[in-house]
Amino acid sequence: MKLTVVGGGSTYTPELIDGFARLRDTLPIEELVLVDPAADRLELVGGLARRIFARQGHKGRIVTTGDLDQGVDGADAVLLQLRVGGQAAREQDETWPLECGCVGQETTGAGGLAKALRTVPVVLDIAERVRRTNPDAWIIDFTNPVGIVTRALLQAGHKAVGLCNVAIGFQRKFAGLLGVAPAQVHLDHVGLNHLTWETGVRLGGPEGEDVLPKLLAEHGEAVAADLHLPRPLVDGLGVVPSYYLRYYYAHDEVVRELRTKPSRAAEVAEMERRLLELYADPTLDEKPGLLAKRGGAYYSEAAVDLAAALLGGSGSAFQVVNTYNRGTLPFLPDDAVIEVQAAVGPQGTAPLPVAPVDPLFAGLMANVTAYEDLALEAALRGGRERVFRALLAHPLIGQYAYAETLTDQLIAHNREHLAWA
Ligand code: G6P
Ligand code: MN
Repeated sequence: MKLTVVGGGSTYTPELIDGFARLRDTLPIEELVLVDPAADRLELVGGLARRIFARQGHKGRIVTTGDLDQGVDGADAVLLQLRVGGQAAREQDETWPLECGCVGQETTGAGGLAKALRTVPVVLDIAERVRRTNPDAWIIDFTNPVGIVTRALLQAGHKAVGLCNVAIGFQRKFAGLLGVAPAQVHLDHVGLNHLTWETGVRLGGPEGEDVLPKLLAEHGEAVAADLHLPRPLVDGLGVVPSYYLRYYYAHDEVVRELRTKPSRAAEVAEMERRLLELYADPTLDEKPGLLAKRGGAYYSEAAVDLAAALLGGSGSAFQVVNTYNRGTLPFLPDDAVIEVQAAVGPQGTAPLPVAPVDPLFAGLMANVTAYEDLALEAALRGGRERVFRALLAHPLIGQYAYAETLTDQLIAHNREHLAWA
């Protein structure tokens, strides 16, 4: 089996490699290709990757290359984990929206739209090249904003599935609180990427007993504290929102906080600098603890599980993925991309039925779906008016004066990445 990681020079890659090494029975990789245009990073990350494989006795070959076509040639699956413009672009996304009193975040609100506009054309170009060399390869997208990027890929007819680690994070967290093995915990997970709610926590599988009420009764304090949301709010919702919902439920509070501290991008850039220093040490042969401070915990487990199931190996039968709605959530268009539990196998993903969704959540999902639709239009076709329409549609923006200012800011800060600007 051959797997290719586009954006393989990312400081996240050792997380992935560690997962591939530990879970080699689930996903027996013979060749792993790391593709990245940044030769210096690729060398450091590739070196550590080889040492991790060697330490863990993995016989797979690790190849590094800057040549995408060569890298994806013959791959069974291609994992996309790139960041157009790097942390510098992210820093901008997290900063200029704050001037309007709007949240500055890499995937939510105006910053998320900027990221979508920079990213969609690049990812589509890569996917096209994958398809040309390798029409049967699965594309697994971890590149944000995952909902919009996955929709772009599916709309262009690619064999793609979107992946996020929010669900697996909750699964591990809840398993710990309940004192059971993670594989025993099946989440009723519903929403759009980075706009999800855990509406049930079942033991054993999709038909298992729902222990969410018990979990909230016994551990509500810890769950709410983790999300930085008040416990009465979580109790009242009766479900567990992802931490991305805090940008909605506590928008102004978050904006105040963000204004008084360094951006996440700046923090991450500093961490990346230190990580690369560590990776350069030829005696290091495991993923460093510092990596755990990044948001991508369990990303490798989720990626291995998904690739294994798609490639016909021993991955879990049910997994949380980003895929076409196709009637699963009747209040959304069929071609919306949703994040839900799905049966996963070599044929692809088939969402499991979802119980009727409380209008409290359905309304926001519908609103953000409309935004994502307009965001994709703007990313594919460009133009100031399309950017403005997407921003006006976003529930965290909505007012024309803000949408006007944010449109100008977005274009001004991203001109080098926007072919039409
Ligand atoms: C979570 C999200 C990812 C996101 C990451 C950011 O893992 O699911 O989509 O990329 O957080 O983490 P960072 O360490 O870059 O802030
Ligand atoms: Mn994510």
